[in-house]
Amino acid sequence: MVTDSKPILLITRSLPPRVEARAAAAYQLQRWDPATPPPAASAGAQALLCTPADRMDAAAIASLPAVLRVLATYSVGYEHIDLAACAARALPVVNTPGVLSDATAEFTMLLLLAAARRAGEGERLLRAGSWGAWTTAGFLGTQVSGKRLGIFGMGRIGQVVARMASGFNLAVHYHNRSRLDPALEHGAVYHAQDASFLAAIDFLALCAPGGPATRHWLNPGRLAALRPGAVVVNTARGSLVDDAALIAALTSGHIAAAGLDVFPDEPRVPAGYLALENVVLAPHIGSATWETRDAMGFLALDGIAAVLAGEAPGNLVRV
Ligand code: DGY
Repeated sequence: MVTDSKPILLITRSLPPRVEARAAAAYQLQRWDPATPPPAASAGAQALLCTPADRMDAAAIASLPAVLRVLATYSVGYEHIDLAACAARALPVVNTPGVLSDATAEFTMLLLLAAARRAGEGERLLRAGSWGAWTTAGFLGTQVSGKRLGIFGMGRIGQVVARMASGFNLAVHYHNRSRLDPALEHGAVYHAQDASFLAAIDFLALCAPGGPATRHWLNPGRLAALRPGAVVVNTARGSLVDDAALIAALTSGHIAAAGLDVFPDEPRVPAGYLALENVVLAPHIGSATWETRDAMGFLALDGIAAVLAGEAPGNLVRV
């Protein structure tokens, strides 16, 4: 009898074709929906590739095969994984930093432009057959060029947003736990205090990681500190925003518009946003390009292969 000697890799979702082909060449692929117990056939699995849509809490980690040697996530964010539970069973975690920065920054700029220039609203009206005529005062939005963009979270993605923003002649201000090396700032202005940061900007882009430290960072007080007519964009994590407060600010008009790609309880979207014309909504697709999703998958597979070979990959999540 011929047996497949390739190690077993558990995957929670289907993969882009090139990633799946590479994974299938190196591993026996077993599919697993983490909302259910792992299938009996996966008992020998040495690796697991999950996604941000999978809740890898302590119970899910405890249910993983005893021989599992590495958990990879198809994302840079890892707040869906209970790292303490992984550490407790000495299970290394790898993620996909760096390779999605351009795509996510691109989408941040797209949402900023679409929200400020009322693109979603215009498209909905046109598709509904309600476009009457070109008018001088129809669909007036906020010009983006030449204004001040504030970036909360100046990590890899924030820095690419800053670079792209310079193409729109935007002055960049940022607020971060610590100041970047000035060589990486490219003229962006650092604010140690969020009060001076929020007072200085016309547009706010949220680019910080999720997790307890940033939960509801954009709260009623910080929304009130933004200037009237500000635009808010979130391509980071839904947990950064107090949704009830943002919906109230969008309804009152204090915040002119928002562009949101992420929500706290995806795929559910707070109903208040759906009812507002001045919000552009997207289904968490900041990194969704063929190039980037391939690169993310390959990086995750590289990390898995390195751990299984007894090496410490560069994309190991430090606990
Ligand atoms: C991530 O990588 O964390 C994104 O949210 C999904 O691309």
